[in-house]
Amino acid sequence: MSKKPLLQPYTLGDLQMKNRIVMAPLTRSRADNAAKVPVPIMADYYRQRATAGLIISEGSQVSPQGVGYVNTPGIYSKAQVEGWKPVTQAVHDEGGLIFIQLWHVGRLSHPDHLDGNLPVAPSAINPEFVVRTPNGKKDSVTPRALSLADIQSIVSDFSRAASNAMEAGFDGVEIHSSNGYLFHQFFAPCSNTRTDQYGGSHENRTRFLFEVLDAMKQHMPENRIGLRLNPSAHDYHGLVVDADTLPTFDYLIGKLNNYNLAYLHLSEPFTDVSQVAFAETQIAKRYRPIYKGNLMINKGFTFESGNKILDEGFADMVAYGVPFIANPDLVRRFEHGFPLAEADPKSYYIPGPKGYTDYPAYK
Ligand code: PHB
Repeated sequence: MSKKPLLQPYTLGDLQMKNRIVMAPLTRSRADNAAKVPVPIMADYYRQRATAGLIISEGSQVSPQGVGYVNTPGIYSKAQVEGWKPVTQAVHDEGGLIFIQLWHVGRLSHPDHLDGNLPVAPSAINPEFVVRTPNGKKDSVTPRALSLADIQSIVSDFSRAASNAMEAGFDGVEIHSSNGYLFHQFFAPCSNTRTDQYGGSHENRTRFLFEVLDAMKQHMPENRIGLRLNPSAHDYHGLVVDADTLPTFDYLIGKLNNYNLAYLHLSEPFTDVSQVAFAETQIAKRYRPIYKGNLMINKGFTFESGNKILDEGFADMVAYGVPFIANPDLVRRFEHGFPLAEADPKSYYIPGPKGYTDYPAYK
């Protein structure tokens, strides 16, 4: 009997994945130091999970301004690059591959993360969200609208992060252009009311993303850059679906065909959007015919449903998030039909090894 599709190898540009099971990016908040440098237990954690065909790291801010959660690591300083090296080395020692997710949360930050400064966004519109700050959960604030010069400096932050990622030994990067963070804030009319070249038309609202892609290409191979989109995010992180959401993503994803990217990582709806006007309920099915490159799909898949979507031809890889928390050997458990362990949400975001590196492999 031939192997299930998830267990078959896949060629990702010039990289060879040993299977099509991807570890999705997961915020784990273990970088508990003021400089937000990756800590040694992070190398243990990723090493334990290196049997995935590809690991995508936790979101890692490209600048001090990009942070929106407690103890998330950065990729902007020399010390952070050094801190990531043992992580990439550990994954490579086990024969795995690892991309880093590059993050700027935009208006989903808070002055408590930013030395009292306002978060930034395309427009000065409060997301009405609750932010996890070093001083506990707090209501979001009205951000400061970015100037044209500010936007160019964030483009530079992403290209610096790309070259830092290469220096740290990552196999590639994933731009976090999803889930209501900065890029998504540019795409969505509810968070972007600009009247300059970054607001209004589809071309304008997606311009920032393409400027970042074009800048990053100068610092690393295009086929090592992936990006993530969540077109049906609704009532999520301050964004809503409207009549222009799908036309915007149709335009954007069509234009990505002009690039030779590592992959496009799409999320199925995070919530039930079957009653939401204009929302797409079947993301992979809609976008598989439009996107010509490698397609990764995420959110809520089991081994069975993951194999099914690959069999149907709607995706090339499936990313699993939460199952990887308590099942470092998820690939082996899937392969042998071993039961999955349940993760404890109380230890998702606490410092130290508890609930992080102490989940055993199946015996
Ligand atoms: C989270 O930490 O809750 C989180 C981070 C990044 C996402 C989504 C959720 O894209």
